[in-house]
Amino acid sequence: MPIIASNADLQALARRRVPRMFYDYADSGSYTEGTYRDNTEAFTKYKLRQRVAVNIEGRSLKSEMIGRDVSMPVALAPVGMTGMQYPDGEIAAAKAAEEFGLPFTLSTMSVCSIEEVAKHTNAPFWFQLYVMRDRGFIEALIQRAYDADCDALVLTLDLQMLAQRHKDVKNGLSAPPKPTIANIINLATKPRWMMGMARTKNRSFGNIVGHAPGVDNMTSLSEWTHDQFDQSLDWSSIDWIKSKWDRKLILKGINDVEDAKIAADIGADAIIVSNHGGRQLDGAAAPIDLLARIVDAVGDRVEIHMDSGIRTGQDVFKAIAMGAKSTFIGRAYIYGLGAMGQAGVLKSLELMQAELDKTMALCGETDIKNVGRHNLLDFDQLPTNR
Ligand code: GLV
Repeated sequence: MPIIASNADLQALARRRVPRMFYDYADSGSYTEGTYRDNTEAFTKYKLRQRVAVNIEGRSLKSEMIGRDVSMPVALAPVGMTGMQYPDGEIAAAKAAEEFGLPFTLSTMSVCSIEEVAKHTNAPFWFQLYVMRDRGFIEALIQRAYDADCDALVLTLDLQMLAQRHKDVKNGLSAPPKPTIANIINLATKPRWMMGMARTKNRSFGNIVGHAPGVDNMTSLSEWTHDQFDQSLDWSSIDWIKSKWDRKLILKGINDVEDAKIAADIGADAIIVSNHGGRQLDGAAAPIDLLARIVDAVGDRVEIHMDSGIRTGQDVFKAIAMGAKSTFIGRAYIYGLGAMGQAGVLKSLELMQAELDKTMALCGETDIKNVGRHNLLDFDQLPTNR
């Protein structure tokens, strides 16, 4: 077993163990991938204030997200086809999140269905919703999340259509993979994955197949989104969703001050400042660069979370220092999952927690709730619209 010292080690292991099309799916941005790269690089611009001779005993990373206690300000983001990174991947990730005391978010485009995840977990998870043209199907999907005791709906607003990720086109991305020569050759090098997949029935889009009228067989995310996702989705659609869902609502994919103001007016419980991990609008700004402005504009009215580009505990610290209440991670746990299943997700969370704790301590803080812009070098003095 290789020594895992960092998330990069988990990523390297996932690259070896996960079939290429699914590794590439996770590790891709749209078009030039400029925004995808910028999301992580942008964090390096912000420097931390190193403080010394502070008693750093008795530290706490405990926080809350929309009223729920979390062991650190991190939730697992929805990731499509997680069950192709690792057999029964959504269940494995949800169990790891539960063990760690963090919320897990299940994607509409998951492999394991809402009911499967609910059957194997005790803590309530959150359900991420894509809105499709067939509102009857969406109503039924919302009801299924309700019946499974999901305590929050995470409504994604930045994907009415799927932006192109070139590798997915080249790889012929589908779940399960089609038996082409290239796939057979690649899968022959992934014996663990093959054995695990042979043991589970969860091999396609579990929330859709057998539930959406007329869909008994569906393999392609891009075809399904192209045909079914509702491009007319607008702010008024959110009222309709709220009329069907009386629990917590998080709006995901806000990356602009004006949109943040509308989201706050609408009465969401939280917004996720996000550019979908650089997978949608290539050329969009990194959320960490917009976060301060959004916090200043609406932070007193709505809880603010952030995702996109967070790979380490230090990234989490910077997002919290900038004013986010909490963060979401996608690839940072997906690589752990692909590498080692549930144990790999736990490992990625442990690494993140340890780094967050040490970063906080070396900045002279003992409680994550006290972290703020004063921990970022010069940030107090600079205008937030830099
Ligand atoms: C879906 O959410 C994707 O980014 O592929």
